[in-house]
Formats: sequence, C-alpha cells, structure tokens
Amino acid sequence: MNDLLKKAEKFAKKHYKQNDEKHGWAHVKEVWEVAEKLAENFPETDMEVLKLAVIFHDADYSDPDKHHLNSAELAKGFLQEQDYANEKINKVYQVILDHRGRYRRAEGEAETIEGRIIYDADKFRWAVSPEFYDKYYSLFYLDETRKMVDEYLKKQKGDDKEQDLKVKCREYLSGWKRAQADYQNLQKEFGKKKKEYVQFANANLIMALLPIMDNFKSAFNQIPEQEKDSAWVTGFSYIKKQLEDFLRQNGVENIPTVGQRFDPELHEAVENDQGFDQEKQEGLIIKEMRPGYKLNGRVIQAAKVIVNSKTS
Ligand SMILES: [Fe+2]
Ligand SMILES: [Fe+2]
Repeated sequence: MNDLLKKAEKFAKKHYKQNDEKHGWAHVKEVWEVAEKLAENFPETDMEVLKLAVIFHDADYSDPDKHHLNSAELAKGFLQEQDYANEKINKVYQVILDHRGRYRRAEGEAETIEGRIIYDADKFRWAVSPEFYDKYYSLFYLDETRKMVDEYLKKQKGDDKEQDLKVKCREYLSGWKRAQADYQNLQKEFGKKKKEYVQFANANLIMALLPIMDNFKSAFNQIPEQEKDSAWVTGFSYIKKQLEDFLRQNGVENIPTVGQRFDPELHEAVENDQGFDQEKQEGLIIKEMRPGYKLNGRVIQAAKVIVNSKTS
C-alpha cells in the first residue's frame, strides 16, 4: 500500500469512529474485501481510485441523506491537500457519489467500472441476508456480484449442512457409546447369572438327596450299642462318609444347631416339648430335629430345632 493510501486510511478512520456500528471502519474493510475480488474481473479498474473511494465512502455520516456528498467532499479536501491530480480527485469524487443506492438516486447510473464495483460491494452484505436478498440482488450492476452472492450462500448452506452432520455424528457417537456400555453391563450381568445358574443348577438334585442323608443319619443314631463296632456298621459308616464328602464337594455345608443361638435366617423353631432347661441360657438351641444345609453359602434347608424357651 502506498503512502497516500496509508495517510488516507489514518485520516478517514478518525471520522468513522463517530459513525454508527453499520457504518464504521469494519464496514469499510468488508466493502474493500468484496470490491477487490470484483475488480479481478475488470483489469481496467483503477485500483487506487477504487480504494480511495472505498476508504472515504461513508466517512461523513452526520447526515445520512447527504452522506455520499459530504463524504465525497471530505475526500476531495484531503486529496487536494495531498496535491493529488485533479482528474483523479474528480474520479474519486464521482465514485463515492456512485455508491449511493441507485433506486433512490437522482444523479443517474454509475458510468465507470469503479462506481459499479463500489455500489455492488457496498450492498453485498444486504444481498446475502435472508430479509434483504430480494431487494438488493436484482439491483446489482454486475453479474459477477450476483455470482459471488450465489457462491457465498451456497457455501453457507454447505457449512450449515456440515454443521448438521457434525451434530448428527456426535449424537450417533454418544448413542453408540451408550449402547456399548449397555452391552458390556449386560455381558457382566449375564456372566454373573450364568455362574449363579451353574452353582445352583444341581440344587434340586442335591435337595432330593438330603432326606436320604437325613434318614441315614437318624438310622445311625439308632444303632444298638452292641452293634456299634460290627464290621457291617463300619462298612455303612464309610458309605455315609462317602455321601457326606460328595455333598461337601458340591458346596453343601451343615448348619450348626445345638449350642448355637437361634437365628431365624438359619433355623426353624418347633414346639419345645422338653420344657425350659434352667441350666442353659434362654434362646440357645437344645435339640436338632432335622438338619439344615447351605448350598454355596445360601440356605437351602433351614434346620428344624428346639430352642430353650420358657414359653411354649
Ligand atoms: Fe453509504
Ligand atoms: Fe457503505
């Protein structure tokens, strides 16, 4: 950028500070961005004149109706002080006038390419907004501007679509993560259930064996004293032990009874026909009527017991 343009920018910026937000320095930059691109299509464009006109086009916005005239005057004064060529000053002056909306302009159509470019670039921001598209799109001088608006809107639509897709992707990803977590929980739950099932699958069979075991035990309790050391009793006691071992190996354990405190989780009390035993503590189990068993830690048969109690 040459010195004149630098000075012009510095000078004009001070004026733009007094303007409203829509006509501030940011707007100048926006207009220049579009103007520069449009000018690429027209090699005959005087870029210096165009840039000076863009720099000054809204510089004096104190009276919106006359701002194109006042801004052109401001530019003229500045450029004269810089000894800028008269012919060029006049051109900048006219281009600034040309930027004013032609639908309300009495001065006539823009004659120069710089005038047409500045008009189109100035209205570009309105043409890409949904509310003003219809109003400004048809007013452009240049087809190139309409093409730029089309491309801008197409890209914006694409960006919106991309944004939508990103949102969808995030939704699907979190859905998938949730499903994966649910599946893992299900697998864990299934594994636990399977283990439980294996542990208790034989429970019915084992429970069917327990009365046999009970009968075995009570038969042993009734062996006459003189037979206790006989060979066949010894033989049978091996069979009983085999059965006991088999049950133990399969997770069966006896529930302790006589001498223990009564526990409703483990024991089932039957009527005390023995009477209260003064020698023993109240609540202690004094007789086992039927053995109780746990299978893998779970009570499968509560022990029937007689509890030392005063009332019964
Ligand atoms: Fe303006
Ligand atoms: Fe403007």
